[in-house]
Amino acid sequence: MRTLLVTGGAGFIGSNFVHMTRERYPEDHVIVVDKLTYAGNRANLAGTDVEFFEGDICDAALMDRLVGRADVTVHFAAESHNDNSLRDPRPFVDTNLVGTFTILEAVRRHGNRLHHVSTDEVFGDLSLDDPKRFTEETPYNPSSPYSATKAGSDHLVRAWVRSFGLRATISNCSNNYGPYQHIEKFIPRQITNILAGQTPKLYGTGEQVRDWIHVDDHNAAVHLILERGRDGETYNIGADNDHVNNKAVIELICELMDAPGYEHVADRPGHDQRYAMDSTKLREQLGWAPEYTDTQTGMRAGLDQTIDWYRTHEDWWRPAKQQVEQGYAERGQ
Ligand code: NAD
Ligand code: TYD
Repeated sequence: MRTLLVTGGAGFIGSNFVHMTRERYPEDHVIVVDKLTYAGNRANLAGTDVEFFEGDICDAALMDRLVGRADVTVHFAAESHNDNSLRDPRPFVDTNLVGTFTILEAVRRHGNRLHHVSTDEVFGDLSLDDPKRFTEETPYNPSSPYSATKAGSDHLVRAWVRSFGLRATISNCSNNYGPYQHIEKFIPRQITNILAGQTPKLYGTGEQVRDWIHVDDHNAAVHLILERGRDGETYNIGADNDHVNNKAVIELICELMDAPGYEHVADRPGHDQRYAMDSTKLREQLGWAPEYTDTQTGMRAGLDQTIDWYRTHEDWWRPAKQQVEQGYAERGQ
């Protein structure tokens, strides 16, 4: 039996991680700490018997107390949306950098273990005609305040491993989709637009590529790293969907939901073109493989499941819809 401290456990990926942990490891004790920002929702954890603390990962006394009770801290908490980081970078610096620093100091004091959840965006982007994929050795080259602060948090973790002998692993994953994702993000925004009778919105020409992965495949990889990962190592996570551009994703959503079409809206400034992850190390060393995959697009089964979830959870997304769309409309998106 382990005690897991999950930071950001009321957000998208963190709450899916908690649900998976309760199902697959029912003997484990789960503590969640979450500030419940606009992106966190206590209801995401309904039906799970977790110990929940509403609090900030920058609160050193709180983190010291909670980290001290855990065998391992699984660190998901972050400000996570690129578009928001372009409007107001400050909370990104506070949570992603100072928050991670605060957790590292607590883990250092208690001598227990940390898994740090990060993103492929730390590597910057590839051009559309570049067939390369990011490996664990690719140099960091972040583009936005979001990705720069995530890159900084990864550097902090590596420095604490090297300088203080901290027991930590890092994972860098590509774009996730699935249940409980905030409707400001690309895929749930389009699904809920269609459900609300509005037209889906594609930034610019839609040629950009994200290496989409279902959230359960990401979290299964995190569990595998907790079980078999080696201290000090980084693992890339991706499901080989780096041939699917945004236009193809929106067209597939329209097809699956019988929607007539979508519209092009203003592009994102500094829009990253292409992300692609090489997850060979995770597959070969730890035996991971994604479950949501098929030969046609690699996304049909996962999108079907996700659309179904938003269709049956209108009470979850409806209250935020108008305000999110108003924010986008003010920016011509
Ligand atoms: P999210 O925005 O849905 O959830 C973040 C959670 O962290 C929210 O519940 C929020 O309330 C909480 N939080 C924010 N600031 C906090 C603070 N100071 N103290 C305590 N809690 C705080 O994000 P997500 O999409 O679930 O992402 C989770 C993690 O995974 C992040 O570290 C992100 O960088 C990483 N990641 C995300 C993706 C993706 O596609 N969404 C891909 C790869 C990696
Ligand atoms: P997003 O979900 O914001 O994730 P990220 O910025 O971390 O990649 O966006 C995914 C892609 O979808 C990105 O290329 C921007 C694009 N996009 C749209 O085309 N329309 C939208 O309404 C949104 C929110 C994003």
